[in-house]
Amino acid sequence: DPKTDPVATTTGAGGETHQTAGGPSVLTTQQGVPVADDQNTLRAGPRGPALMEDFHFREKMFHFDHERIPERVVHARGFGVHGYFESNGALASVSRAAVFGKGEKTPVFVRFSTVAGNKGSADLPRDVRGFATKFYTKEGNWDLVGNNMPVFFIQDPIKFPDMVHAFKQEPDRGFPQAATAHDNAWDFLTLTPESMHMIMWVMSDRGIPRSLRFIEGFGVHTFRLVDAGGKSTFVKFHWKPKLGLQSVVWNEAVKINGADPDFHRRDLWDAIQAGERPEWELGVQLFDEAFAEKFDFDILDPTKLIPEEQLPVKVVGRMVLDRTVDNFFAETEQVAFCTQNVVPGIDFSDDPLLQGRNFSYLDTQLKRLGGPNFTHIPINAPKCPVINFQQDGHMAMRNPKGRVNYEPNTWGDQAGPRESPEKGFQTFPAALNGTKVRARPETFADHYSQARQFFISQTPVEQAHIADALIFELSKVQRVDIRVRMVSHLLNIDQALADKVAAGLRLAEMPKPMPAAKPTRQDLKPSP
Ligand code: HEM
Repeated sequence: DPKTDPVATTTGAGGETHQTAGGPSVLTTQQGVPVADDQNTLRAGPRGPALMEDFHFREKMFHFDHERIPERVVHARGFGVHGYFESNGALASVSRAAVFGKGEKTPVFVRFSTVAGNKGSADLPRDVRGFATKFYTKEGNWDLVGNNMPVFFIQDPIKFPDMVHAFKQEPDRGFPQAATAHDNAWDFLTLTPESMHMIMWVMSDRGIPRSLRFIEGFGVHTFRLVDAGGKSTFVKFHWKPKLGLQSVVWNEAVKINGADPDFHRRDLWDAIQAGERPEWELGVQLFDEAFAEKFDFDILDPTKLIPEEQLPVKVVGRMVLDRTVDNFFAETEQVAFCTQNVVPGIDFSDDPLLQGRNFSYLDTQLKRLGGPNFTHIPINAPKCPVINFQQDGHMAMRNPKGRVNYEPNTWGDQAGPRESPEKGFQTFPAALNGTKVRARPETFADHYSQARQFFISQTPVEQAHIADALIFELSKVQRVDIRVRMVSHLLNIDQALADKVAAGLRLAEMPKPMPAAKPTRQDLKPSP
């Protein structure tokens, strides 16, 4: 009764009530039993041993002992906020997805993150920033699990565990926790020439954003959109911040990390609490097979981007972030994004990295969130009807109703849900033809051209920051041969950059350029 009990309550899925706001009320156990004394354990005499009978103490301690869940294997440190996405209708003729209908407003939850650091690490390491968006659409949840850089380090998902091991703390010593600046990271990277383009982005000012409100987002992979008639169009997704891009310089990042390791999460929290409404435009690059064929690189290669000069980004809607979370653990920590979460009208390409990710996220979340029912947690639950015959498992909050939990069945009115070829998700029937093989196509072989394009697109000040970042990072690498190997890669990107880094590292002599691993598609073309 609100007149006698000032504590607001909400009703849970099972009809139970939960306390949601402060104010004096009676403390209870998890069983709802009022507690008389929460300060003293039950003992055999005031100086005597503890009694097993103290169910309140045992329950309280048992629950505390089990508070931790595994942190994410990557992107462990993050910050989530709520908002909405509003479509301007520009994609309605290209994708049948309801989320792209004209004027359609869809609730979203966004989690920004760093990648390498553990959950308690600082907000401003030099790192990629995760930018994951869950769209609670009328036709189910669509997750756009992106980063603030448009490309990635590797082309094949089989390398991901090694890459992450090399980035995170070294196994014998447990440090460094959240930095690329160490031998293992640079040993791996310099043995992985496909990472050179991404390295340029990470060493640029984008690796140390001033605020999460000033970062771009990218879906990275090529995806497909499918229209009502079944026609497919390739798409790259972009988030463009209304506030523009801003970064700090390394000197500032180091100070901020020391003075306030929560700088980015505090900024986002304070801004929204103060009434700011950070906003991004959702943009797309749309193209077809014929357009894709014109490039020297492969549009399935996640280490390449499609230059915006050649294919401008078209704005298809805007996202506004307007609400902080009520509970960090329940929402930010338990949210589960997955590249596999697509809706009718959005489909995958054969980008091998995307295909690998589609396996990895669900798999890790089974463990991280303790069983197969994490879609029952409110932050992960779709905001549209969910009706199927899946049942039971740990913490099941929704089971099939009534007698029927299988199909096909002949229970008439009580038969339960049925599949719908018209409304349902239809995989785009892409033609396939191939021999089983463990190999990468020649079209994935040019690792330097786009790294160079990115470097020369930067202003002189930005180029100087890249050189400084490389010198700083590599100066933390103890093995000189690893430093030398990186400079030999840089010689394939930009001579002046290589010279500057070699001088900054005081290399005894300039190495030879790294031999290009494989010929490019251009090289393979017959001469005219
Ligand atoms: C998180 C795997 C590449 C963006 C994660 C997680 C895993 C993972 C296991 C933890 C998920 C969880 O515990 O909920 C992989 C694999 C990759 C890959 C195997 C490549 C083979 C990428 C790429 C991007 C990306 C290319 C960006 C386009 C993210 C983001 C998160 C994440 C933003 C954090 C999601 C959140 O905020 O909860 N990844 N990842 N990952 N990944 Fe990836």
